Amino acid sequence: MSSGSDKSGLEFLKNKISDERGFNCSYYKESILKRRIDSRMRRAEIDSYRDYVSLLDRSPQEYNALIDTLTVNVTGFFRNPSVFKAMEEVVIPNLLFYKKIQSRKVIRVWSVGCASGEEPYSVAILFRELLGDEIDDYLFFVTATDIDDHMLNKAREGIYTAEQVGNVSKKHLDRYFNEMGGRYQINDSIKRYVKFRHHDVISGEEIHYFDLILCRNLLIYLSREVQDEIFERFLRSLNPYGYLIIGKSETLTPQAARKFELIDLSERIYRKPP
Ligand SMILES: C[S@@+](CC[C@H](N)C(=O)[O-])C[C@H]1O[C@@H](n2cnc3c(N)ncnc32)[C@H](O)[C@@H]1O
Repeated sequence: MSSGSDKSGLEFLKNKISDERGFNCSYYKESILKRRIDSRMRRAEIDSYRDYVSLLDRSPQEYNALIDTLTVNVTGFFRNPSVFKAMEEVVIPNLLFYKKIQSRKVIRVWSVGCASGEEPYSVAILFRELLGDEIDDYLFFVTATDIDDHMLNKAREGIYTAEQVGNVSKKHLDRYFNEMGGRYQINDSIKRYVKFRHHDVISGEEIHYFDLILCRNLLIYLSREVQDEIFERFLRSLNPYGYLIIGKSETLTPQAARKFELIDLSERIYRKPP
């Protein structure tokens, strides 16, 4: 699958996906995309990109499966618990401190690449637990965005298997989920704080005034140049002293590292200077 003619076949396929599905392959790392496309082709027992293109034209199911493979939707409630601990002990208390001294009552969080919703719901649970009933003295909301509509629909529905809520404590499960025949639906006491919408972090319009941005396990698939642009966008999207949290296996680009203040290297927490 790596001969010269197949290289042009791969380019053709990438352009097709970008044109037809709005997933702009040129932003993503070539080696990762190729590995993912090749894995779908192996499953379909096809070994030329041209033949795979005709399969995509015949089979919308295969096209959807390919897009799911390319966007990688792996996620989980309280993924990397130590990050949530740092949010609980450092990020949120500091944020609340600044809100108090500024007499500001709006708290805006952005979960970028929210997949099926576990991350934004986890953050909303954490704020709800820390603020208690005081949460309603604030205008608190989490904007959760993704480019994968299939995932966004799942997130809005908010229904998870017992395995998916495995990381949620019994206390939180009882408080914030309704059990329905072995499945767990996030209830309205949390759902009302989280708004899902389709948005492409690379090419979508800029959104502003966030106190905390989580962009975890998405940047790793993007080229360093695109990452640079996204970090610039985040600087503009954050309020002064606003926090940025990236994935545990991700790093800031050198250019971004000069602009953000480092808060916790091992948890990948940064802050926009005032
Ligand atoms: C591996 S999941 C990460 C989910 C969650 N942030 C976490 O860390 O558990 C990556 C998500 O990023 C989304 N994604 C990929 N490219 C994106 C883009 N350009 N804009 C917004 N979301 C994107 C994918 O659809 C996928 O749902």
